[in-house]
Amino acid sequence: MSVDVAVVPVAGLGTRLLPLTRSVPKELLPLGSKPVLQHVIDELESAGIRHIVLVTGAGESSIRQHFGIDSNLERQLLAKGKADQLTQLQSLADGIQIDYVRQSRQLGLGHAIWCARDIIGDRPFTIALGDAMFGLNNSTLCQRLQRVFINTSADAVIAFHEVPKDRVSRYGVAKVGATNIDGEGSFEVADLIEKPATADAPSQYAIAARYVCHSQIFNLLGNTKEGVGGEIQLTDALRTLILAGGKVVGVPLQQNEKRFDVGNFDSYFSAFVEVACADPIHGNALKQQLQAILDKD
Ligand code: G1P
Repeated sequence: MSVDVAVVPVAGLGTRLLPLTRSVPKELLPLGSKPVLQHVIDELESAGIRHIVLVTGAGESSIRQHFGIDSNLERQLLAKGKADQLTQLQSLADGIQIDYVRQSRQLGLGHAIWCARDIIGDRPFTIALGDAMFGLNNSTLCQRLQRVFINTSADAVIAFHEVPKDRVSRYGVAKVGATNIDGEGSFEVADLIEKPATADAPSQYAIAARYVCHSQIFNLLGNTKEGVGGEIQLTDALRTLILAGGKVVGVPLQQNEKRFDVGNFDSYFSAFVEVACADPIHGNALKQQLQAILDKD
């Protein structure tokens, strides 16, 4: 068995980033020289994913434009002798089939995933949230999740990062069962709570934007009632799976897999600066400029 298809929800309204996201979907905000969504697609591609379902909302046309072919632009780059840029452009999602599904109503992450059910069918699939990337050097997180999914015969595998206690209420949080079940640090997820109050959080392990699931999750999502925020939560469907005896495995992030996300201005600004500073061409100049700004203060 292999996992070669992924669902990437990109339908959020980005309300925490207004006015920036008034006409630009948050998944197209740049982290360094690429939109965050391009980093996510690159990560999936290097994990062997060949078919991606983007679940879109109001920002669908600009996302389609980013991954679509623009013959006019290609002709112009060719005419101006900009072969490097042309190659770069043509290699965006090259060899990957991208399908688009519209989430017509904003009913939550669980509902967004459920919208992809007809295209995914009965295949196991990866879920990658389109507003977060991991590490600065081609993360292997999705690859590891897929490996653990197969090696542990799990029904679902979820990435987790440890967060400070005062931040647990922003995430889905795990109750940790048996630890190190595969000799690689993976743990059994005994329960899950979406956005718990600090006092109710069963641990500081927060769901980190990447999952691998069997297609059975679609049935569970179809029967999941509105949860936190009045939305249909993926976490609640995974909880039902656990309570019904399903095997759900947690994979912690590695030291070098810092999470960069564009969820709010604080995380977006710092993510942009850190990713841009690591840019092989422009990074050093930026670092010097930042240093000069800091020295003036
Ligand atoms: C979603 C999930 C949550 C997870 C978070 C980050 O929340 O519902 O469980 O921890 O993504 O991956 P959101 O950020 O959409 O509110």
